[in-house]
Amino acid sequence: MGIAEGRVALVTGGAQGIGRALALALAGAGVDVAVTDVNPAGAEEAAAAVAATGRKSWALAGDVSDFAAAREMTEEVLQDSGKIDILVNNAGITRDGLLLRMKEQDWDSVLAVNLKGAFNFCKAAVPVMVKQRYGRIVNMSSVVGVMGNAGQANYSASKAGLIGLTKSLAREVASRGVTVNAVAPGFIDTAMTQALSEKVRTALQQQIPAGKLGQVEDVVAAALFLASEEASYITGQVLHVNGGMYT
Ligand code: NAI
Repeated sequence: MGIAEGRVALVTGGAQGIGRALALALAGAGVDVAVTDVNPAGAEEAAAAVAATGRKSWALAGDVSDFAAAREMTEEVLQDSGKIDILVNNAGITRDGLLLRMKEQDWDSVLAVNLKGAFNFCKAAVPVMVKQRYGRIVNMSSVVGVMGNAGQANYSASKAGLIGLTKSLAREVASRGVTVNAVAPGFIDTAMTQALSEKVRTALQQQIPAGKLGQVEDVVAAALFLASEEASYITGQVLHVNGGMYT
């Protein structure tokens, strides 16, 4: 299994957590990687780590929810490399709260980053991929997008929306050699879940048949597979990485 040497990937939200680990894993597989993030210093640091593996890298600072910025970031990679083979829409945020107390801004910002952000980068990259007759798009959804979760109406809606985007776009571009899939992680041990109280983490663990939170590497392995050459006949799918929490 693998990825042909010299492919070019763009990973959104690549400064830390799952995105950073995936950027490095792609570099390890012989891919040149553009790291985009709203955190400029983090993007620089992750891009430097990619460059340290010997692959070409780009650090692109910008907000995925900004349509024009997404186009500019994609253009920068294109001008340099002439192609974009792999797009990973990974940037995501949470603004949790029960709907009764949720502010309009909490709804809008989560939908803007998690869902519109993916649309923005698909709009920029899909024409290129269709022209190339090759592309791998991986959208980072969540188990919460299929199960729902009290206190996460906004996040859950955004992640369910990503699955709808994945399935629809997959149908539109399947005949052009472009695949579009989603990875739906369960609860993974990252900054996002480390922010939860010990009590909540313990309660979560009890819902997971595997008895533990997942590791970043578990998600990276699934995303790498969907981005590989061999996954060419897999499209419109949701790959669950959740220790059996949702089956
Ligand atoms: P994280 O919070 O550690 O990293 C997210 C990255 O996205 C950060 O570098 C952040 O600066 C960047 N980002 C946030 N807003 C942005 C914006 N507007 N434009 C560009 N970049 C932005 O999160 P983690 O845990 O690595 O999650 C990555 C993805 O996986 C997210 O989409 C998350 O929703 C999803 N996920 C995570 C799970 C977990 O348990 N950690 C479970 C299921 C899904």
